This record gives sequence, C-alpha cells and structure tokens, in this order.
Amino acid sequence: MRSSDLEWFGLRSAPFSKEIADDDLWLPTSKAELVDELEEAIAARASVLLTGEPGVGKTCVLRALRKRLSPDDYRLTYCHNATLGRRDFYRQLCVALGLTPSATAAAVFYAVSTHVEELGKERIHPVFLLDEAHLLHQDVLDHLHILLNYQWDSRALLSLVLIGLPELETQLERRRNRSLYTRIHHRCVIDDATASDTTEYISYRLGLAGATKSLFAGDAVELLHEHVAGSLRDLDRLAQAAMRDAARRKKKTVDRDAVARVLGGRMPIA
Ligand SMILES: Nc1ncnc2c1ncn2[C@@H]1O[C@H](COP(=O)(O)OP(=O)(O)OP(=O)(O)O)[C@@H](O)[C@H]1O
Ligand SMILES: [Mg+2]
Repeated sequence: MRSSDLEWFGLRSAPFSKEIADDDLWLPTSKAELVDELEEAIAARASVLLTGEPGVGKTCVLRALRKRLSPDDYRLTYCHNATLGRRDFYRQLCVALGLTPSATAAAVFYAVSTHVEELGKERIHPVFLLDEAHLLHQDVLDHLHILLNYQWDSRALLSLVLIGLPELETQLERRRNRSLYTRIHHRCVIDDATASDTTEYISYRLGLAGATKSLFAGDAVELLHEHVAGSLRDLDRLAQAAMRDAARRKKKTVDRDAVARVLGGRMPIA
C-alpha cells in the first residue's frame, strides 16, 4: 500500500501484508486450540497431517507452532519444495539439516536417518515439516514411512508434519499410502474462515497497523466475506484494494460500494 494511503487512514503499516511477525499472528480460539493440539502431538513424538483450502492460514499456524517449540528440545526443519523426486527430496532434507548431500538415494537416506538417530541420543526431537505436501511425488510418499521406522519400528525418533490442500488426505487414504497414513495419528483440518472470523480478522489486522476505529463498514465486510470463501489470503488482497479505492475517493471508511467496485474489476487490485 502507498504511504499516502496509510497516512490517509492514520495507519503506521500496511494492515493486510503477508509480512506479519510470528508474535503478531492472529490466533482466535479455534486456531489457538489447533496450535495446542499440534504442540501436544509433537511433544508425544507423533506425526501430524494438517489440511485446508488455499489461503486459510496453514503456514501461519506452523509459524505459531514454531514459536512454541523450544530449540533446546526440538529441531524443526521446514521443507516447502515438495515437487522433487525421492533422491532430490532427501538431498533437500540433507541441506536443510546442514548435512552434505551424498550422490546416491541410499546414501542420502542413510545420512538423514543417522542424523535423526544422533539427535535422539542428544534428546533433541527432530520435526520435519513438509509444506505443500499434496505435491509430493508418489515415490517420496512410498518411502516416507521408512523414515519413521527406527530400531525395528519401536522408537519414535522423528515427527513428520504433512501440510497441504484437502486432496492430500484423499491421496493418503489410497491403499498404496496406507503404511504412511496409519502412522499419522493426528489429522487436523483448518476450516474456512467463518463470517465472524472475517470480521475479527479484519479488525485485528487493522488494530495491529494502528487503526483506532473501525475502517470497514459492516456491509462491506459482509460482501468481502461472501467473496473470499474462507481464504484469508484473498481477504488480504481484496481488503487492501478496497482501502485504496476508498482513499482515492477521499473516504475515511471503506463502504460496500468500494468493495463492490474492486470485485467488479473497476479498480486495479495490486
Ligand atoms: N493466523 C494468522 N494471522 C495473521 N494473518 C494470517 C493468519 N493466517 C493467515 N493469515 C494471512 O493469510 C495469508 C495466507 O495464509 P497462509 O499462507 O498461512 O495460508 P495457507 O493455508 O498456507 O495457503 P496455501 O495453501 O496457499 O499455502 C497470510 O499471508 C496472512 O496474511
Ligand atoms: Mg501455505
């Protein structure tokens, strides 16, 4: 957002930017409970599946989780390039773990699993967070449960957290993936934002940016909610565009017409 637009609304920062600090994340009861559940699952050394539609806030929940897990007890490794074949997937994991990736698939797998065992001896629990996991290649999915198998499948030395779109769960339910799926005991879903979530989110983010009063009319929020279908990312984009529209028209409140113009494409969304 332009600084003149921010000034117009008396804000100190762009309210709907993706650059929100971990400490400032919005955690209504539903999300706070989810973060609690994830934290408990990982403390119990279990693996987790987290699914939800695009933009509902999955990656932000992971960021909130990261804040909860002490680096003295947990080693978090976040992988977001899921579009790799098995060998490159493990190579990526090696690099993320600070290991030198070896040449063959067997050697990289060995390096990763040895590292996990060493962390176990140091009483540090490794957590591999695989974001965009609905894009994982089948040959990676075929192999992941082997990574969870330590000492004849008797030790839980690693937690896998698979995050992705709802189709990830459908993929895992397939017979071929049952060895992996049955090892994932916690299956969580982030639901689409409800109408009251949308209202709360907008005022929360505006408050963080320094707003002292409500800048969106109630019916403008309703219209936004109808159009974003639960996606906070779409909400960010449209709310920001509607604020720009209102600022151009020298209005201090974003009304339903501003939102309607943005939705009607009569206002560039940027
Ligand atoms: N808890 C939150 N606090 C503040 N902002 C949030 C929160 N959750 C989501 N957002 C906003 O919504 C945007 C999208 O969220 P996020 O990237 O977490 O979605 P996602 O579910 O991971 O989407 P995708 O499936 O496309 O990866 C963020 O960039 C942020 O601006
Ligand atoms: Mg994401």
